[in-house]
Amino acid sequence: MKTILIAGGTGLIGNRLSYLLTQKGYQVIHLSRTENLDATYPAYHWDLEKGTMDETALLKADYVINLAGAGIADKRWTISRKKLIIDSRAKGNELFQNYFQTVKKPKAYVSSAAIGIYGDRGQEELDELSAPGKDGFLMESCVLWEQSIKALEDATHVRTVIIRVGIVLSSQGGALEKMILPFKVRTGSYFGDGSAIYSWIHIDDICGIFIKAVEDDSMKGIYNAVSPNPLSNKELTYAISEAMGTPNLIVPAPTFALRLAMGEMADVVLTSAKVSSNKIEKAGYEFKFTDAVKAVKDVVEKEL
Ligand SMILES: NC(=O)c1ccc[n+]([C@@H]2O[C@H](COP(=O)([O-])OP(=O)(O)OC[C@H]3O[C@@H](n4cnc5c(N)ncnc54)[C@H](OP(=O)(O)O)[C@@H]3O)[C@@H](O)[C@H]2O)c1
Repeated sequence: MKTILIAGGTGLIGNRLSYLLTQKGYQVIHLSRTENLDATYPAYHWDLEKGTMDETALLKADYVINLAGAGIADKRWTISRKKLIIDSRAKGNELFQNYFQTVKKPKAYVSSAAIGIYGDRGQEELDELSAPGKDGFLMESCVLWEQSIKALEDATHVRTVIIRVGIVLSSQGGALEKMILPFKVRTGSYFGDGSAIYSWIHIDDICGIFIKAVEDDSMKGIYNAVSPNPLSNKELTYAISEAMGTPNLIVPAPTFALRLAMGEMADVVLTSAKVSSNKIEKAGYEFKFTDAVKAVKDVVEKEL
């Protein structure tokens, strides 16, 4: 039985991924800021500030997946919050680099990254060879994040896969959970003029891509993880409305109000990125969900 160590495995993606890996016969262990060895997935401790981790976790692991990082949209982007968002990702990669060099190298290292690297690009088609965006904290933090993953790969020569995660559809957290809430009282909003393109992915497809990256030795480098059918924010809002199956009042949330409420962090909901899934499909990944209405219905019905 192969063992997979997941850093940040207690989060939205990690939770579902841990379950799906276990169903496939893998043993899953976590690397966490909070040790809990009695849990379903034993959690070994790491401390990014001190630059330490429990070596036992790495010694047990055949593969390592890194999903750790302070939530991008959890709190207003103050200077210290921005530093934490960057450090919690870069320091994790630095720590793995150091431990791979001194303790043990896994068969592969699969790290999350984000499509935020493309910045705000309107209707432009974006693939893995597209240049990063021009400005904005989202883009800057994603560039630094990927630089730290690349540094690990260069220093350790471990097979490294960088998964640029799209907007994950789940009813348990992330963007959709927040968008669904008002529909419970039969209203919903799109953001600004609703034209921003949302490159979404069903939670089981993002997990499926991480699993493929572990299992497929030919995968290496950067892959976008988004469904083949990105939608405008307005279209996604109407898809959610249709999936909820009730008549709903849909109104725009004006850009100025979002900026007032969220500050610079409003970039998270207003940024447009039409991201291509061609590369991961060519690598052989078959999406379970390409239709947003079916994807939303599925996560709501199954409480995924
Ligand atoms: N969900 C999305 O739509 C989406 C989109 C693009 C990119 N991503 C990226 O994909 C990764 C996983 O996403 P997710 O939605 O599963 O994230 P999540 O639910 O926020 O979970 C991330 C995990 O990171 C750890 N963590 C939190 N704050 C930390 C800190 N300050 N320092 C170190 N570790 C910290 C936590 O694990 P412990 O408490 O066990 O330490 C947490 O469970 C993240 O890096 C995220 O940025 C997600």
